[in-house]
Amino acid sequence: MNSAEGKFIVVSNAEPYKHEKEEDGEPVCKEVEGGLTTAMNPQMKDTGGTWIAFGRGEKDFEVTDPDGIIKVPDFPGMPEEDQYTLKRLNFSDSQYRNFYRGYANRILWPIFHSFPTKADLRKEYTYWKEGYLPTNKEYARAVIQAYEPGDTVWIHDYHLALVPRLIRNELPEAKIGLFWHIPWPPWESFGKIPHREEILKGLAAADLVGLHLEEYARNLLSCAEKVGAELDYSSERFQLESEETQVGAYPLGVDYRFFNGTDTGDEEANIRDKYNCESLILGVDRQDYTKGIPERLRAFKKFIKDNPELRKEVALIQRTPPSRTGIKEYQVEKSEINKQVSEFNGKFGTHDWTPIQLFWKGVPQRDLIAEYRAADIGLVTPGLDGMNLVAKEFVAANEKPKVLILSEFAGSSRQLEEALLVNPYDPAQVAEAIKEALEMPEEEKQERWRRLRRKVRTEDLPTWAEDFLADLEDARQLHSMTRFTFPESEPERGVS
Ligand code: UDP
Ligand code: G6P
Repeated sequence: MNSAEGKFIVVSNAEPYKHEKEEDGEPVCKEVEGGLTTAMNPQMKDTGGTWIAFGRGEKDFEVTDPDGIIKVPDFPGMPEEDQYTLKRLNFSDSQYRNFYRGYANRILWPIFHSFPTKADLRKEYTYWKEGYLPTNKEYARAVIQAYEPGDTVWIHDYHLALVPRLIRNELPEAKIGLFWHIPWPPWESFGKIPHREEILKGLAAADLVGLHLEEYARNLLSCAEKVGAELDYSSERFQLESEETQVGAYPLGVDYRFFNGTDTGDEEANIRDKYNCESLILGVDRQDYTKGIPERLRAFKKFIKDNPELRKEVALIQRTPPSRTGIKEYQVEKSEINKQVSEFNGKFGTHDWTPIQLFWKGVPQRDLIAEYRAADIGLVTPGLDGMNLVAKEFVAANEKPKVLILSEFAGSSRQLEEALLVNPYDPAQVAEAIKEALEMPEEEKQERWRRLRRKVRTEDLPTWAEDFLADLEDARQLHSMTRFTFPESEPERGVS
């Protein structure tokens, strides 16, 4: 997209870069881990524009101008042409708590990932009124301020479902797309949310709503139908009240050129020397109960118990950046993982072999590439994951054939069928897959890998963005011909 066509306005809760305190007290710029920021960052580096997001770093507002604006990434020596504008928003502690810890991550995240027992539906009304609604309004206001005619507004994820509708009221002609980065569950799960209709009305005002899989798109359409939307299943459109939107599946890809082409020097060899082991198994997951880490550890234990002769030949490296640390369910899971790992290493480890190396720390993607390359087996076993980029990055980073063990409940398993697909809740099957991976004949390994690499290379990140943006353009054209214009006096739909 060039400037003649207007700029990009990307809107998400997570920011791509945060500023934290260095040991000397000075602010330092760091990448924020997560699939959403990984997806949009290369896009923004290429095209420029403005990214609007919550400022989560403790030094974030020390480095911005008074409006919360900064050019990122501001790593030392970063050329200006690789930077873009980040506008950081700030909210009161209690509003943000109700919004982020509350509505987004204790209502929407568990319900949309079909973990209803982790949802706190009793507080839904409070989280909504004190957090989700006012915060969505503030995001919408920031977009309206940044907007100029011709711009493309690209909103991301479940935190911001109301923003399309809130913007549409003020900017009837704006091109508005929204990508939903998590699964869309069936009505039996979604329908439990008290404000289900408002969420769908919010989305209905976007020109295009993208999801990773057809299955999620169909679930969204049938949920819309349940709350009274008119539906056109064949063209994947729905109309709710007077808003009409297009829905579609756009499986997110990775920046293949970056993961394939980045030179990691001796790092890979250094990592292998450090663990001094025949085969390394790697797990990389933000800490989240959807990622299936305790189940994975149980499966690895079963493998170690069942295969005493292979014991000292393998080690599992589990890299887990902490996430949403203020939420009880996450704290409980963290203790469980720590306990499992220390019991495991205490029971099976020897003076010269530690079976599980657990790191509660994220690393920049360049370092992650070296870990991907040092590993022989990628073990990606979420209980449910909208897409899971780690699986695709592992493939993209490794020219040399490896084996990917992948949960059949990760969205990426629909494309990566040549991985060893497993049910993450069946420890015997996962343990068996580890054995199969270790013993896989070279020819089979190469053939599977060749096919996986071709998919990850052709269905990559730029292709995803191009497909979504082309359909957004078409959807806008269609809507500009047909959209009902709301009278100016419709206060309940406004932002203020
Ligand atoms: N990631 C990272 N450093 C780490 C761990 C993860 O940069 O130490 C990145 C990883 O490269 C991937 C993203 O975080 O792009 C995780 O995305 P994924 O879709 O796998 O899961 P999500 O965190 O979005 O649920
Ligand atoms: C998932 C969500 C993103 C989120 C990321 C990290 O990928 O789809 O919206 O940003 O997890 O979670 P966090 O709560 O740290 O933003």
